[in-house]
Amino acid sequence: MAGVSTPAMAAAVSAAGGLGSIAVGAADAAGADAMIAEMRERTSRAFNVNLFCHSPAVSGAAIEDRWIERFRPRFAEYGAEPPAELREIYRSFVEDEDMLDLLLLVQPPVVSFHFGLPRGGWIQSLRDAGIVLLATATSLAEARAVAEAGVDAIVAQGWEAGGHRGMFDPDAPDERLPALELVRLIASELDTPVIAAGGIMDGAGINRALGAGACAAQLGTAFIACDESLADEGFRAALASQATYSTVMTRAISGRPARCLANRFTALGADIPASEVPAYPIAYDLGKSLNAAAKARGEYGYGAQWAGEGAPRFRAMPAGQLVQALAAELSQANISVEGNCHE
Ligand SMILES: Cc1cc2nc3c(=O)[nH]c(=O)nc-3n(C[C@H](O)[C@H](O)[C@H](O)COP(=O)(O)O)c2cc1C
Repeated sequence: MAGVSTPAMAAAVSAAGGLGSIAVGAADAAGADAMIAEMRERTSRAFNVNLFCHSPAVSGAAIEDRWIERFRPRFAEYGAEPPAELREIYRSFVEDEDMLDLLLLVQPPVVSFHFGLPRGGWIQSLRDAGIVLLATATSLAEARAVAEAGVDAIVAQGWEAGGHRGMFDPDAPDERLPALELVRLIASELDTPVIAAGGIMDGAGINRALGAGACAAQLGTAFIACDESLADEGFRAALASQATYSTVMTRAISGRPARCLANRFTALGADIPASEVPAYPIAYDLGKSLNAAAKARGEYGYGAQWAGEGAPRFRAMPAGQLVQALAAELSQANISVEGNCHE
C-alpha cells in the first residue's frame, strides 16, 4: 500500500505469521534499497516487495494544461497556485533497470507486480535469483497472461478492492468481477495458485476466499488504521465516520481507476470523462499538490483515501495484533487450504 504501509507495518505482519508487503512503486532504486534494508533489520521472516508495472505515461501538454486550468479555482480556494506543469512523478518498473539491478542484488524473498508485467527476460532473471513472483489480475485474460509469463501466483483483485485497480490497460472494458467470483473463475481454468484480494476484512472472509479456491488472501483496507500506517488524521477520521460507507472508483486523483472513500475530490471527478484525465501518474502530480494545498488549510477532503468496500469493518490496532486476530478467526472458521496451493 504505497503511501500507507511502512516497513514497520510489513515487518509486524511478517513477524505475526503473515507475508508483510512494502510498496516501492512510488520510490526509486535508492529508496527501495533503504526500505528493504529496514525490513531486514526489523524481521528475518519472508516479506514482499511490490512494484508498479504500468505502461509508461503518455498524455501530452494540451490535456495536462486543461487539467491544470480545471483545478485552478480549487487551488485558489486554499490560497494556492496549481503546478505550472505536471511531471511523471515516478517511473514504471518496466523501464527501471536500476530497480531490476537492485532486486537481483538484494534478492527479497517475494516480489509482486501491479498494473501489468515486466518483460519476460526480467521475470526470468528474478526467478533465477530465487525470488517468488506474484502479479495482480482483474480478469481471466490477465490471469492467463500472468500464468503464461511464469509468475508463481495470481493475485485476483475484485471490483470491491481498495486502491488502484490493477488492470493492465486502464482504458479497456472492465469486467468488474467481485473477488470471489474472479477467484472461482481463475482457479477453475488455471493451475497457477490464486490469492484473493478485495473486501476481505476478517478471518471469516479469508475462509470464504479459501472456500472459493484461493490458497491465500491479500488484505489492504483492513490495515489502513493500524498503528504503523501512514494514513493521516483526515483519512483515519473519514474511515471512522459515515464516509466509510461509501467508496467510489475514481480516475481523477491519479489518472487510473482506484477505489477511494467518497470525498470532495471524488465528487469533482464524478462528471469528468476518462479522456480528459491526464495519464497515470501525471494526473497524480496535480492530485497530490491539491491535497497538500487543502491540507495546509485543514481540509482533508482531497486526499487519496484509497479504501475498499469492506472499509466499515476496519480495526484500529497494531498490525501484528490484527494478523493474530485474523488467524484466530480463520482457525475458528476452519476450511483447509490444502489442495488449493498446488505446491
Ligand atoms: C490504501 C491502499 C493502497 C494500496 N496500494 C497498493 C500498492 O501500492 N500496490 C498494489 O499492488 N496494490 C495496492 N493496493 C491494492 C491492494 O493490493 C489490494 O488489491 C486491495 O487492498 C485488496 O482489497 P481490500 O482493500 O478490500 O483489502 C492498495 C490498497 C489500499 C487500500
